[in-house]
Amino acid sequence: MKTYKIAIIGGDGTGPEVTVEAVKVMDAAAAKFGFKIQKTDYDFGGERYKRTGEVLPNSAIDELKKHDAILLGAIGHPDVKPGILEKGLLLGMRFALDQYINLRPVRLLPGVECPIKGKGPNEIDYAVIRENSGDIYTGSGGLMMKGTPHEVATQTAVYSRFQVDRCLKYAFEYARKYGKKARGVGKENTLALVGKTNVLTFVYDLWERAFHEMGEKYYPDIRRDYYHVDATCMWMVKSPEWFDVLVTGNLFGDIITDLGAMTQGGMGIAAGGNINPEGVSMFEPIGGSAPKYTGQNIINPLAAICAMQMMLETLGEAKAAAKVDQAVRYVTANKLKSLAAGKMGYSTTQVGDMVAQLVTD
Ligand code: IPM
Ligand code: MN
Repeated sequence: MKTYKIAIIGGDGTGPEVTVEAVKVMDAAAAKFGFKIQKTDYDFGGERYKRTGEVLPNSAIDELKKHDAILLGAIGHPDVKPGILEKGLLLGMRFALDQYINLRPVRLLPGVECPIKGKGPNEIDYAVIRENSGDIYTGSGGLMMKGTPHEVATQTAVYSRFQVDRCLKYAFEYARKYGKKARGVGKENTLALVGKTNVLTFVYDLWERAFHEMGEKYYPDIRRDYYHVDATCMWMVKSPEWFDVLVTGNLFGDIITDLGAMTQGGMGIAAGGNINPEGVSMFEPIGGSAPKYTGQNIINPLAAICAMQMMLETLGEAKAAAKVDQAVRYVTANKLKSLAAGKMGYSTTQVGDMVAQLVTD
């Protein structure tokens, strides 16, 4: 029997609560589809930091590397200065494990209310591939003459051809496998580059050249589009049905996926994967640690369950992943009154139980 070693990091706030439900569904899927999960819990997060002053111990990365994947709840603690945990833990793991892809599907599930009038699951059904290792996130820059009237701050977007190429390769392959034609819901598979070639004439010039060179040479079957990032925000609201697979740099990807998450029903459902196709990937709900809902058993665990579903898919357990997807869709279509915390009509635990039961049936 195939065994997967999964590191579980519940993290802060409601993170542990939603992670428990994701693990519940994962165990149900493993039993049903004949694989084993060996879990290791890690207590990284705000509480540990407050106790020990340690965010991500050096040994942690070596340990995490021994796993097949990581399931993360949420990072962020009200008593810890913003940036410490986010940079040290979340970005720390992304960089140390070279998770250079951030895959964020934007899909409206049946029964979920969409804030955009007239749009439904057929219109909001695309994926954003956010480059996850470069850009303005690399820490290049600094403060000069700090505290003086002449103070200067710089923070530079950094991209190498290597980083751009490996991301594009993943994006083209993803479009070929999961594009609208591949899924039988459209006539072609399309990859669109999202950039700002009219202003960022160095960084997105590199992206654009690499995009067309690779597409022409290796992926002639995939249609190529280009959108400026500002226009992308407009089309995400006005005509999301145009999109299939989008690929973009780290910062633009960060920003447009929050907009995307809102159009798919909010943080209660949005999930993402920090993927190293050759290494250890980490899956997480996109929403934060929601301190005010902590410990009340009212937070929506579906985003964490969807993150776990992406993990199964990435591990190669396609059948189990499809079953979890089906179960989540059934629950949103027929059970939940709302996706919002406290308004679901069910507790956190009950939602996890329902999905697990449907996976088992
Ligand atoms: C995200 C978050 C992080 C990011 C923060 C918390 C560092 O916003 O995962 O989108 O900017 O990548
Ligand atoms: Mn973000």
